[in-house]
Amino acid sequence: MARRWKNTLSENDVTPENVFLNRRQLMAGGAAALGLGSIGGALEAAEGLEPSSYEDITQYNNYYEFGTGKSDPAQNAHLLTTAPWSVKIDGLVDKPGDYAFEDIMKAMTIEERIYRFRCVEAWSMVIPWNGFELADLLAMAGVQSDAKYVAFETALRPDEMPGVRYPVLDWPYVEGLRLDEAMHPLTMMATGIYGKDIPNQNGAPLRLVVPWKYGFKSIKSVVRITLTDKEPPTSWNQANAREYGFYSNVNPEVDHPRWSQASERVVGGGLFSKRVPTLMLNGYADEVGDLYAGMDLSKFF
Ligand code: MTE
Repeated sequence: MARRWKNTLSENDVTPENVFLNRRQLMAGGAAALGLGSIGGALEAAEGLEPSSYEDITQYNNYYEFGTGKSDPAQNAHLLTTAPWSVKIDGLVDKPGDYAFEDIMKAMTIEERIYRFRCVEAWSMVIPWNGFELADLLAMAGVQSDAKYVAFETALRPDEMPGVRYPVLDWPYVEGLRLDEAMHPLTMMATGIYGKDIPNQNGAPLRLVVPWKYGFKSIKSVVRITLTDKEPPTSWNQANAREYGFYSNVNPEVDHPRWSQASERVVGGGLFSKRVPTLMLNGYADEVGDLYAGMDLSKFF
């Protein structure tokens, strides 16, 4: 499938230059140690963004089905069986059914995209994803004209997910997008990181990535996608509607009730950990700003 979108951000949007230069040297070593050869370097050159280390991306996670601590997912997510896997696509589609993960992968062209990732907890990373546009998967199922929203659901496997014993969230984890958000070329289903299969803790075998929204919208290990004409429930909104709205757009002007969203800590560890200003729509305002024209973003947060 033709590449329809190009990352236009520069590294200066993410990391101050002196830190960038240091991290560039660290990355070169890190990629080699992982046996990734020049993949890290090539992605960086192609996209102009300095990716976070593979270690940060895969060891500092939120995946509450495996525990609420940042290191719990890396420790426990190996318990999840990811093959065989299928995604049920249903609701307002022409071809509802169970789509085997291998069949999806055969039909899609996998590409690499480096996106900023901004967590609602006010930290951020830059992640080199591999995956495909959600729009291409939805096209396989044939979206009907009365569909307005897309609902997503994560696997719920009490035998494999030690965290679901605790009622932290109303399991299974669910999320939703407006159809135009879902069809936007920036919105992808990720199946890899740094050119390798996506690790379980990051949402294997496929997870949503919506780079202009807070990280919690990016639902992991998706087993069901439902096209609907009603705004679907979302786990964090159900847990605390005052703190988490349906839209969850990254917005430095709308603070979370308990903390500011004006800046973010770039996860990079130790001496290089830095606070930088958070950008409107996580820096993707030129690409997606039109989706929200005329909406009061402090009301639809
Ligand atoms: N998806 C599921 N199923 N369960 C979760 O707990 N956490 C969300 C999101 N997707 C979560 C999830 C949150 S809060 C964040 S910040 C991101 O995943 C973290 O993605 P990462 O660990 O790959 O960085």
